[in-house]
Amino acid sequence: MQYSIISALAATLLAPTVLALPLPAGESTATSTEVVAAASSTPFVWNKGGVDTFTIHQSCNATNRNQLLRAFSDLEDVTSHARDHILRYGNTSEIFIRYFGQAASAEPLGWYSRFASGDKGNLLFRCDDIDGNCKNPGWAGHWRGANATDETVICDLSYSSRLYNDQICGHGYTIAGSANSLTWAGDLMHRVMHTDSFGEFVAGHYADTYVECLELAKTNATFAVRNSASLRLFALDAYAYDIAVPGIGCLGTPPAETADSHAAATTSSTATTQNAAATTSTAITTANAATTTAATTTVGDTATTTIATGTECHTHADGEVHCA
Ligand SMILES: *[C@@H]1O[C@H](CO)[C@@H](O)[C@H](O)[C@H]1NC(C)=O
Ligand SMILES: *[C@@H]1O[C@H](CO)[C@@H](O)[C@H](O)[C@H]1NC(C)=O
Ligand SMILES: *[C@@H]1O[C@H](CO)[C@@H](O)[C@H](O)[C@H]1NC(C)=O
Ligand SMILES: *[C@@H]1O[C@H](CO)[C@@H](O)[C@H](O)[C@H]1NC(C)=O
Repeated sequence: MQYSIISALAATLLAPTVLALPLPAGESTATSTEVVAAASSTPFVWNKGGVDTFTIHQSCNATNRNQLLRAFSDLEDVTSHARDHILRYGNTSEIFIRYFGQAASAEPLGWYSRFASGDKGNLLFRCDDIDGNCKNPGWAGHWRGANATDETVICDLSYSSRLYNDQICGHGYTIAGSANSLTWAGDLMHRVMHTDSFGEFVAGHYADTYVECLELAKTNATFAVRNSASLRLFALDAYAYDIAVPGIGCLGTPPAETADSHAAATTSSTATTQNAAATTSTAITTANAATTTAATTTVGDTATTTIATGTECHTHADGEVHCA
């Protein structure tokens, strides 16, 4: 058995060389041809079964699906650009240093490469509100947590409140002043990082607001490069500056400190937490309510219903509400 495998392998490896040589007069090619034919009848495909797109559940209707496909394409464009920006500048660009401090570039490069080109076979998006969380006011979607660690529910609110890439830097959206979840790309990065398959229990919430992320870059770059919000902010900032409004971007200014997540109350199993967002310079106020019905591993995210600065709040396993 072992001999035959080795000999077949050796014959396969040698076959092209044998075939390339001039044949001695009168010698048949039968042996080499048979070996090649036998080997190619069961070709080894290293990436067999690979899936390069997210799966959309049958509960999503045609228009939900159309928008999700565009949103997935936006996610790929933003993350592949983040990857390319790092490939060009390593850890030296101003934008890199803003969010990742003096970290080495390989880890964020890896996250963005996986977003842009990684296998997505495990990840499912659904539209059926299977856990009933979309009924909570302001919820635009949620990770299913312990109910299905690689599944995400997109609630109806998402379809009327998210910005596509060609709207980034328009509609009052700025990197520092708006919730990054206002963009489909930022929102989906967040949701995907929560899944076990993608986040690998490493991507997390170590800082949430823009200001907290700038601080994390300076004080703890090791965790900045695996911090969900920092990874979202870098990608959106690089996209805004390099692609959307070239050489200018739309950094903006952070909202007033009233949006500080640490001011949010810790929820009990039946608590309702109301978070008021900061008022922007254009005097648009957006209030978002994050209602939690159970102190589980629920991660539900609010969405703003107008295109303006807003906080995004969600409850974590520890029962704490995070707003960003
Ligand atoms: C698909 O469902 C959404 C609600 O999720 C609804 O607003 C929309 O009209 C539906 N599209 C079609 C084509 O029925
Ligand atoms: C780039 O990363 C290296 C290795 O971590 C670090 O020593 C260096 O200071 C970083 N460079 C910048 C500009 O942050
Ligand atoms: C960096 O952040 C992580 C996660 O919050 C924490 O465990 C670690 O102690 C921090 N390291 C430093 C040097 O502050
Ligand atoms: C999991 O399912 C239960 C029962 O349907 C539900 O109450 C809970 O909110 C779900 N968890 C998440 C994270 O959606």
